[in-house]
Amino acid sequence: MNIDEARIKITDLRAEITKLSEAYYTKDAPLVEDNVYDQLYRQLEELEAKFPELVTKDSPTQKVGGKVLSEFSKVSHEIPMLSMGDVFSLEELEDFDRRLQKNVGREFEYNVELKIDGLALSLIYENGELVQGSTRGDGVIGEDVTNNIMTINDIPKKLSEPISLEVRGECYMPKSSFKNLNEQREIEGQTVFANPRNAAAGSLRQLDSSITKSRNLSTFIYTLINAEDYGVTTQKQAIEFMKKLGFHTNPSSETISNINQIEDYIEKYQDQRNDLEYGIDGIVLKVNDLATQAELGNTVKVPRWEIAYKFPPEQSETIVRDIEWTMGRTGVLTPTAVMDPVQLAGTTVSRATLHNVEMIRDKDVRIGDTVLLHKAGDIIPEVSQVVLKKRPDNLPEVAVPTNCPYCDSKLVHLEDEVALRCINPMCPAQIKEGLTHFASRNAMNIDGLGPRIIEQLFEKQMIKDVAGLYRLTADGLSQLEGFKEKSINNLLTAIDNSRSNSLEKLLYGLGIRHVGAKAAKLLAEEFNSMDNLMDASQESIANINTIGETIADSVTTYFENQEVHDLIQELKDASVNMDYLGGSEEVVSNPYFTDKTVVITGTLENYKRQELADQLEKMGAKVTNSVTKKTDYLIAGEKAGSKLDKANSLNVTILDETTLEGYLSSTQDAE
Ligand code: IVH
Repeated sequence: MNIDEARIKITDLRAEITKLSEAYYTKDAPLVEDNVYDQLYRQLEELEAKFPELVTKDSPTQKVGGKVLSEFSKVSHEIPMLSMGDVFSLEELEDFDRRLQKNVGREFEYNVELKIDGLALSLIYENGELVQGSTRGDGVIGEDVTNNIMTINDIPKKLSEPISLEVRGECYMPKSSFKNLNEQREIEGQTVFANPRNAAAGSLRQLDSSITKSRNLSTFIYTLINAEDYGVTTQKQAIEFMKKLGFHTNPSSETISNINQIEDYIEKYQDQRNDLEYGIDGIVLKVNDLATQAELGNTVKVPRWEIAYKFPPEQSETIVRDIEWTMGRTGVLTPTAVMDPVQLAGTTVSRATLHNVEMIRDKDVRIGDTVLLHKAGDIIPEVSQVVLKKRPDNLPEVAVPTNCPYCDSKLVHLEDEVALRCINPMCPAQIKEGLTHFASRNAMNIDGLGPRIIEQLFEKQMIKDVAGLYRLTADGLSQLEGFKEKSINNLLTAIDNSRSNSLEKLLYGLGIRHVGAKAAKLLAEEFNSMDNLMDASQESIANINTIGETIADSVTTYFENQEVHDLIQELKDASVNMDYLGGSEEVVSNPYFTDKTVVITGTLENYKRQELADQLEKMGAKVTNSVTKKTDYLIAGEKAGSKLDKANSLNVTILDETTLEGYLSSTQDAE
């Protein structure tokens, strides 16, 4: 490549990297997987090394990624928050070591740590009190997120000693919190986060700190600024010192005297990676002695005394057997690839969402294709690419439905949405999803009325909408498969009990777009009755604290529909309560426990088992005694025995007491 060709390539790479980096750091919504970004970045670095005369100050290789959002006040970092060099193979790691050996010229140790996949934070304490928390931003200027930082449980607000200092570390979202948050967002029709890192960044950069609080963020603190001032001489000691002061430090760091020992460390954590409750994307090698670190110093962008080794992404190959189109309650039709089951990053995977038609076309996935799968953010199975050389001849492109597979009405794209929607309010698939939602715990809480029974009621034309539930009779129910006197009575009682629910449960159950459980509560509190709400102006709804225009618009549009009026009338005729019953039963909505099946085992330090069970049930959980495939969480205290083993063997998420505390303190937000 000559210099002119290099100039063109470099310009292209810079533009692409800048675009990707902005999506990742500023918008918290990455456009590609990390390794794709890393490869482009690598290419740019290599070209610039070959043609140093083409390096400019504004090249992404010369700047720390990230920008400050104008919504936050700015904070300048007295000591810049740098980035970190990275390598992708053991050979490169050994090269790094060789270079340092040469530069230092004497024996030295390394401290190896896990590279936590979150976002960097700086915390400042004065006389032992937390006074400021900020993000990295562009490395020199960060965002002041002190109010949000104050809501993170594991960040000490007061240190065990009244000293002044600055520490830095990583803020992350535990994997199980991420999974729950996305499930909840999906239910509420909101966009889901691509991975835990973005979810953590999005949660920390909120203007409303109660939202941050609800997201259950955690931290690992790894850097003590000006450590020498505290009599600390090594990175290992710094970690111990910070731990003693009350910071949450990662327990996996180790001191090694020789680079050969790193291979074991890498192997160990590459194996354990999927079992950790937090995401890691590699390991970090740091010169342990702080004086030697100072001797080596920094480049403009990265310290010379540390390097990250990034894990290769885990991938598995399998064959696509079908594309299923599933209907959501809001009418969005989502394609899912159904594949031969394959092991991937710790679980068996046989389905991967393809999100929308655009993605099917971009990746050109076809039924019969061999595909490579990865897990986005270690969690969500996704198709990375089609293995084209294994494509059988004449494989047709995926036929995108033009009509709804469930009601045959024409599918549309609303405004500039990529989503394919069925806008027929009578679409049976949407109605069935809507009925399931209506019966769910945070809505009308009709125990025993799940998707299987709804399917049967629908097939037998016993119901066509939620009002139909209130006209069911024992005679009718006796036609359902496996329904005997006891199950008939139980279901009728559950339906009957739901008649006296307070207004907010009905409002949430109706599935009005953007109206989550918390918004429903606010609306019910403000307007007291269905009639008042139906008469309310958009302005008066938008005026309610935290409700805003989107919800207000959605509510008024919903009630403009004559069919909705008819439905409400039918519900009234069926004696379904339409009034707010004013806190007679507190709705403690919690994103982690709603509709989850939970088992408690072992001895918990701060909770009595029955009290905890009651509290969880109030939050919408079902507490049971034995661990099965249906269990969502095992809460495990000290001396947990066979239930813990069983949960492990069934891949059930296990919550220790600290994580439990974080979950319990989260209440649902009304975004
Ligand atoms: S040391 C000079 N130690 O990785 C900045 N960073 O890719 C490095 N990170 O910005 C600070 N785990 O946000 C350090 N054990 C660890 C880390 C770690 C994750 C992050 C940090 C940094 C990024 C660079």
